[in-house]
Amino acid sequence: MNARELKNIFIEFFLKKKHVEIPSAMLVPENDPTTLFISAGIQPLVPFFLGKKHPSGDRLVNVQKCVRTGDIEEVGDAVHHTFFEMLGNWSLGDYFKQEMIPWSFEFLTKTLNIPQNKLAVSVFAGDQDAPKDEETAKLWEKQGIPLPRIAYLPKENNWWGPPGITGPCGTDTEMFYWTGDNQAPEVFDPKDNRWVEIWNDVLIQYLKNNQGKYEQLVQNNIDTGMGVERTTAVLSGFSDNYLTNIWQPIIKEIENISTKKYSENLVPMRIIADHLRAAIFMIADGVEPSNKERGYVLRRLIRRSIRQGKIIGIENNFCSVIAQAVLDNQDNYAGTYPELDLNENKILETLEAEETKFRRTLNKGLNEIEKDFINYTKLFENKKQEAISAEYLGKKAFYYFESFGFPVEMFLDEASFYKTIIKMFDRDEIIKYFNIEKQKHTEQSRTLSAGKFKSGLADHSEVITKYHT
Ligand code: ALA
Repeated sequence: MNARELKNIFIEFFLKKKHVEIPSAMLVPENDPTTLFISAGIQPLVPFFLGKKHPSGDRLVNVQKCVRTGDIEEVGDAVHHTFFEMLGNWSLGDYFKQEMIPWSFEFLTKTLNIPQNKLAVSVFAGDQDAPKDEETAKLWEKQGIPLPRIAYLPKENNWWGPPGITGPCGTDTEMFYWTGDNQAPEVFDPKDNRWVEIWNDVLIQYLKNNQGKYEQLVQNNIDTGMGVERTTAVLSGFSDNYLTNIWQPIIKEIENISTKKYSENLVPMRIIADHLRAAIFMIADGVEPSNKERGYVLRRLIRRSIRQGKIIGIENNFCSVIAQAVLDNQDNYAGTYPELDLNENKILETLEAEETKFRRTLNKGLNEIEKDFINYTKLFENKKQEAISAEYLGKKAFYYFESFGFPVEMFLDEASFYKTIIKMFDRDEIIKYFNIEKQKHTEQSRTLSAGKFKSGLADHSEVITKYHT
């Protein structure tokens, strides 16, 4: 099954159940200053879970563009992505689990034709905030899921939300697909990673308030989420998401440019494909590379791709060529997201400009980093490493950021080639000191800028720009 088919049949299924399809919201949240990007379909719909009437009704369905920045470090494995598409349907105070569980079962077994024997589910085990969800377990059992295939799990597994600090949330029930070669075991073991989660039905009944307490909502809601990338892969029998049609045209283009094989360069090629696809969607939604917030996320994605490109021998601008491959993928996005078509030139130009700029400092910075790390390794070998602390490395990371535009992750990626050093320190500690340094610097530039302004110098922008690039 390809991604476009999966998206179409999901939407059709819920249209038949009297849902209305709504367009994907933009990746940049419109009324939510607490998050940088939309990370789930529910997020732009929050007010409607609290009782407000949605203009399209109380049964909705869509394909939502999502970005999860928390997963950036995981990218490079077979299943994590920064940007992904989420299929979702919602009941805004209309139907609840009595309808949703049979529909989920029907969609999985009748529409997607998944053999019932390859399915398992989890439900909430119960705690002080909500009771054990035996009702949902019974609904699954009635559909034909045998009891040993129903696991009761605690909050960390079977509670979803709120998407921000406060907001709607609830217990959930997750559906798992058996991806192992042999027959699925009779008993569902959630720790066995051959059981892959493919769908999540969240039973939104609570509001987490600003004291961290859960209040009962005025209405019962449903919020479901199915990841397009993952589900397309498992239904096609792939344990590597990048083998699906979503990614193959992009991977092929990276193979062409680098003249290397994907099978021998999994990690760099996955990072490039993932990061540039995310970058394209961000630019289409108005984000521009910068050193702040969303723009900084975008900048990191592009720069990390360029660095990974070097690892597979790409020395010239290539990001916009990859972007073209994403935009032209007839099996997937082409024609379905007007913002991609409308902003094609802007996407290509932004990538080209950012890449040209970064390439000016990249080699110089890498040479310097290499020298530094060789020195540190020597110090470690001679047991003279006292000066090298997490704080020292955090400050160094900031130096590379300031002088060569290297995002902190890039400094850490480089450090990871020197095992003795990186093993000694915690990445998060180094990042903490990097951030302290960055913060200090921002304050200094602000003071400087204010001072110049006061002294009547009209153009302080050049100094500041220099500091920030
Ligand atoms: N909001 C739920 C999720 O992201 C469906 O898993």
